[in-house]
Amino acid sequence: MEWTRGDLLGLEELDRAEIEMILDTAASFKEISSRPVKKVPTLRGRTIVLFFFEPSTRTRSSFELAAKRLSADSLNISTSTSALSKGETIKDTLRNIEAMQVDIIVIRHSSSGIPWALSRLVAPAIINAGDGCHEHPTQALLDMFTIKEKLGKIEGVNVTILGDIAHSRVARSNIWGLRKMGANVTVCGPRTLLPRDIEKMGVIVTDNLKDGLKNADVVNVLRIQRERQKAGLLPSLREYAQRFGISSEKLRQFARKDLLIMHPGPTNPGVEITPEVAESKTSVILEQVTNGVAVRMAVLYLVAQARDETKEEE
Ligand code: NCD
Repeated sequence: MEWTRGDLLGLEELDRAEIEMILDTAASFKEISSRPVKKVPTLRGRTIVLFFFEPSTRTRSSFELAAKRLSADSLNISTSTSALSKGETIKDTLRNIEAMQVDIIVIRHSSSGIPWALSRLVAPAIINAGDGCHEHPTQALLDMFTIKEKLGKIEGVNVTILGDIAHSRVARSNIWGLRKMGANVTVCGPRTLLPRDIEKMGVIVTDNLKDGLKNADVVNVLRIQRERQKAGLLPSLREYAQRFGISSEKLRQFARKDLLIMHPGPTNPGVEITPEVAESKTSVILEQVTNGVAVRMAVLYLVAQARDETKEEE
């Protein structure tokens, strides 16, 4: 199979073979990060702009390291330092960046759909690093990579996504990706944080933690996205922690011993997960972060290569 996409916008539009190709490419890149000299010349001379309109530590630094380990030049722009704070529109800002002949723009924005709109507007490749409550494809890819690495497969694995499903782009991208890869997905959380019609995405839905955990091989614990919520969706964080927070005690009662614990970060310790569980033997939270660099190297590489091939044909 050949990778032909010049952008990575979301997982809804990818097919299984494409997802497998990203995961396989990431597996071959992973070893580079454990070398003393963590650099290959693959993307030498390319320019990658990281354009983040929302706070980010992990995702931004992960993309930046991925770019650097492939020898690309990277440039960071954030809302507070860009002319957007002087009233320039995002379209104008990006047109100007485009005029500086950059190759790839990695973008995070609070509005759903922005990466798709921009990909029609500007020439550089667009990679979605999270758009509103919609998609966060590289996070879901690194989650799937981690599941495959730990359990040897994704097909047939029971994954429970727990928490604020309604506001989570991580949940949506995971559901699309995992379903295509043949995993069984359950979403679990308070009714007010489960989107209506979510069943249509091919998932099992429950507002009972015990039911959510009983068959799970993996639990992907999400943060309560307070910044995105309208008031009144949750009685209190304390009550949420009591009903849905993952603690050693609840795991002993409801889950299998080797349940894999995942979390995209940042965690709110004591709310959705106790520090003890986050640091426990079956937690792979930091391995997810390690794998994120390899997955983003794969995405940057595949997208750049597809662009080269289209140019050659022209
Ligand atoms: C997630 C995000 O930004 O969507 N975090 C991340 O990318 N590591 C999840 C979150 O903010 O809770």
